[in-house]
Amino acid sequence: MRTSIPFARPWLTDEDRAAVDRVLQGHVLTHGPECEAFEHEFAEFLGGGVHCVTVSSCMAALHLAYLDLGIGRGDEVVVAAQTHVATAHAVEWVGARPVFADCDPATGNVTPQTIADAISTRTRAIGLVHFLGVPCDMEAIRDLADAGDLAVVEDCALALGARRDGRHVGTVGDVGTFSFYPVKHLTTAEGGMFVTRHADVAARVRRLRAFGVDRGHSERSMPGVYDVPTLGLNYRMSELQAALGRTQLSRAPEILSRRRENFRRVREPLVDAGIHVLDADDAAAESSHYALSAVLPGGAGGPRERVVEALGEAGVGTSLYYPHPVPRLSYYRERYRYVDGFHPHAEEISDASITLPVGPHLTADDAERVGETVAALAEVQLGARA
Ligand SMILES: Cc1ncc(COP(=O)(O)O)c(C=O)c1O
Repeated sequence: MRTSIPFARPWLTDEDRAAVDRVLQGHVLTHGPECEAFEHEFAEFLGGGVHCVTVSSCMAALHLAYLDLGIGRGDEVVVAAQTHVATAHAVEWVGARPVFADCDPATGNVTPQTIADAISTRTRAIGLVHFLGVPCDMEAIRDLADAGDLAVVEDCALALGARRDGRHVGTVGDVGTFSFYPVKHLTTAEGGMFVTRHADVAARVRRLRAFGVDRGHSERSMPGVYDVPTLGLNYRMSELQAALGRTQLSRAPEILSRRRENFRRVREPLVDAGIHVLDADDAAAESSHYALSAVLPGGAGGPRERVVEALGEAGVGTSLYYPHPVPRLSYYRERYRYVDGFHPHAEEISDASITLPVGPHLTADDAERVGETVAALAEVQLGARA
């Protein structure tokens, strides 16, 4: 019997396990040197002179971003419709209103035009996502934001390693947020990184993520003495997580190259079969190849469910990114009275795509098998409908 290929599996090595064990052999489990070193190494990996702050998740980083920007009641933020709910929830949590922007059907990303269509006099920021690791057109979006004095928050949860014109995502906007959830490019089990080009923002967010306390442990003249000048949260990362993040990050080049190769192998038979694959649309864009999204013809009434079922029987794991555009999820649908057809391209991706594995857990043979199996199944299903 053929082995099954899960959609995702964290790539954990003896080096990772040893790093976590080394922390456990000591006594510093939080507020320690691993988080600090992880922040420096991550900043070096991204380039662009950014400052990094470890946090408990990407959602926490997004929440901190809007809190620090001072966005709240009465404000609007243009948010990608085709994203994880976290991108929008962060806006809701500060009391602002997300106004959703549709995407380019070729990439799943928001565009300067779809953003412009959603901007009003109340707009204070743009909350975009680099969908499945394909970088948005940041230069044009930055220009649009600057013209309207808007902040740009880049959700890079799926985009570690993605660059456009050589600049890593998360380093062009005002804030970049990363996720280290187990299915992501690198994992700390749970965890995230807040990234900013501004030193003062990093300093404020460091406080905000730790109860609003005004000094770290190493800055206290007397142990236990500190003040709390602002409201804050506990969104810290532990030393165990940071140690794991560091060894994972040291393998990022290999992780990215395996993903790139696997993406190419899965993609080839699909494109040959005439299936639309979301992909970077110009030479300046370097995807992080988080996963491969194949949009099957036929929309909501198409063959997707049957293809997914048959793939499960063939041992190929799949996922949906995402099952609904965020504004169609019950919370948002009811709150903002969503009507089908508002975001036709995001709806098409949600209703007709399947998301396929390309992670480092796939061998070259696995990747070829995934692409060929999907292409064959889609052809059979579409043929049966013809
Ligand atoms: C685009 C996007 N943003 C944010 C998140 C939330 O990340 P976390 O689980 O680290 O909060 C996810 C989770 O999958 C995501 O896909």
